[in-house]
Amino acid sequence: MQVIHTTRELRDALAPQRQRGFVPTMGNLHEGHLALVKQARERVGPAGTVVASIFVNRLQFAPHEDFDTYPRTLARDCALLQGAGCDIVFAPSEQELYPEPQGYKVVPPAELADILEGQFRPGFFTGVCTVVHKLFNIVQPTLAVFGKKDYQQLMVLRRMVAQMALPIEIHGGETRRSDEGLALSSRNGYLSEAEKQEALRLSRTLQALIARWQAGERDLAALEADAMQSLREAGWAPDYLTLRRQRDLGPAVDGQPLVALGAARLGTTRLIDNLELS
Ligand code: PAF
Repeated sequence: MQVIHTTRELRDALAPQRQRGFVPTMGNLHEGHLALVKQARERVGPAGTVVASIFVNRLQFAPHEDFDTYPRTLARDCALLQGAGCDIVFAPSEQELYPEPQGYKVVPPAELADILEGQFRPGFFTGVCTVVHKLFNIVQPTLAVFGKKDYQQLMVLRRMVAQMALPIEIHGGETRRSDEGLALSSRNGYLSEAEKQEALRLSRTLQALIARWQAGERDLAALEADAMQSLREAGWAPDYLTLRRQRDLGPAVDGQPLVALGAARLGTTRLIDNLELS
């Protein structure tokens, strides 16, 4: 496995490769990321090349968020990626990827990007789309794999690829969970042992929301308010818990595939999760 830090070296290394599977990450990797790398490997086959990028993207962090403290664990990440079948790690410096302030941005449509995560993290999806578009231009993958854990991100990026006519297949990898059901996330590392136990409440609250919908309750506002309240009573600060259409994240309606999504702060850590139902 090669570890490459510059665009020029990466382009040289990739020049002879046609089938390129790409997994963009911000590092601090866990089993969920490694599963995405393995899926990229399966999909491009043994003759294809799997590239993972590691870059903590300043553009998608608000000033009060954890950009400065986000764990940078390159050596450990590279060892894990090697074991998962990655061929090339692209780990550019900030100077390499943003040699001058990034004035040109990819701004996703408000109806998809200013709701849910985008409502609570203004500009987040512009930062994500801008860096992913730039990484796509550098890597020129035939396939890119993103986790369903970041459900809205996956949807925003799928639309970007479709609207910009990028010749890239996008694959969504299922969320990996601990044995107890906690969705794996780089930010779980911020949780104490007691908080890790408590963190299970987020997915359980989403399950309870789904169960009430499946039992025939249709007052969506009341279902969502109850879910938010039950988290508040347990000491959380929820941003949203909601049931949406999988297709476009519009409000839930009967007869269409749905997804329950939630984001909430436990102590100082903001967690997100989602569960699909059909
Ligand atoms: O999901 C992430 O880790 C990031 O948002 C991504 C896609 C690597 C862009 O920085």
